Amino acid sequence: MTTANITPAKSEAPTVLASSLSRRFGDRIVLDQLDLSIAPGEFVALLGRSGSGKTTLLRHLAGLDPVESGSLSLPRTRAVVFQEPRLVPWKRVRRNVALGLRKADASPRAIAALNEVELGHKADAWPATLSGGEAQRVALARALVREPALLLLDEPFAALDALTRMRMHGLVVDLWRRHRPAVLLVTHDVDEAIFLADRVLVLVDGKIATDEIIDLPRPHAYEQPGFIAARRRLLQALGVVVPPAHIVEAPRALAKAAAR
Ligand SMILES: Nc1ncnc2c1ncn2[C@@H]1O[C@H](COP(=O)(O)OP(=O)(O)O)[C@@H](O)[C@H]1O
Ligand SMILES: [Mg+2]
Repeated sequence: MTTANITPAKSEAPTVLASSLSRRFGDRIVLDQLDLSIAPGEFVALLGRSGSGKTTLLRHLAGLDPVESGSLSLPRTRAVVFQEPRLVPWKRVRRNVALGLRKADASPRAIAALNEVELGHKADAWPATLSGGEAQRVALARALVREPALLLLDEPFAALDALTRMRMHGLVVDLWRRHRPAVLLVTHDVDEAIFLADRVLVLVDGKIATDEIIDLPRPHAYEQPGFIAARRRLLQALGVVVPPAHIVEAPRALAKAAAR
């Protein structure tokens, strides 16, 4: 199915607005007067080398870290999915999804969210009995059941095998289309970023150094000419200069290795 990318109306207030956001740990400046705006319903991916500050930025957008310097405007409803599912082991799957919801309709809402990630049949299972992919789908259901205006994903597929990861890509795009939160997806994987996002950012030296619009019809695919060009620019932004032919010949391995 092909749908147009979301083009937010200019007058619409952004879901996230960061101005001159800075954060330091000791002597190390991790975020350096960073500016960022994310429109309602926009799917944004954030790339950067290990230690570049991606999780630090995400934690700020989740409201988990105090703003030290600069300003940050966030929506009231936010949800985060981390690399590991962080399920409570002594609560059944349904109770994990319902955590923090008001009692009255918590259970039916949890079941509906589990059905959306195709895990309705695991509602009464214990977390320890789930596969890695299933556990991460439960974590997604737990995030979405709150109908967040902003969904934050911190390398949520990094620990999954390649096939499971591809299924998760499809699922996340479906869920995003249905619920339309603004999304910030942190990833190491250049291809994953281009597959999923409307816009890909690269964090370098504490600032958004690159802001690449992925102006392709969905679903984004390798075969689209703009895909390869976007990959080349993003790899360069990450400090990797690869001959164009090389990029076409060995796409995934290179794109993944480059961001490490
Ligand atoms: N709570 C903390 N205390 C001290 N240093 C931190 C803390 N959190 C992150 N850092 C440092 O900030 C830098 C960026 O970390 P992080 O945001 O986790 O990077 P990334 O997610 O891009 O790998 C790293 O050098 C890391 O060691
Ligand atoms: Mg991180």
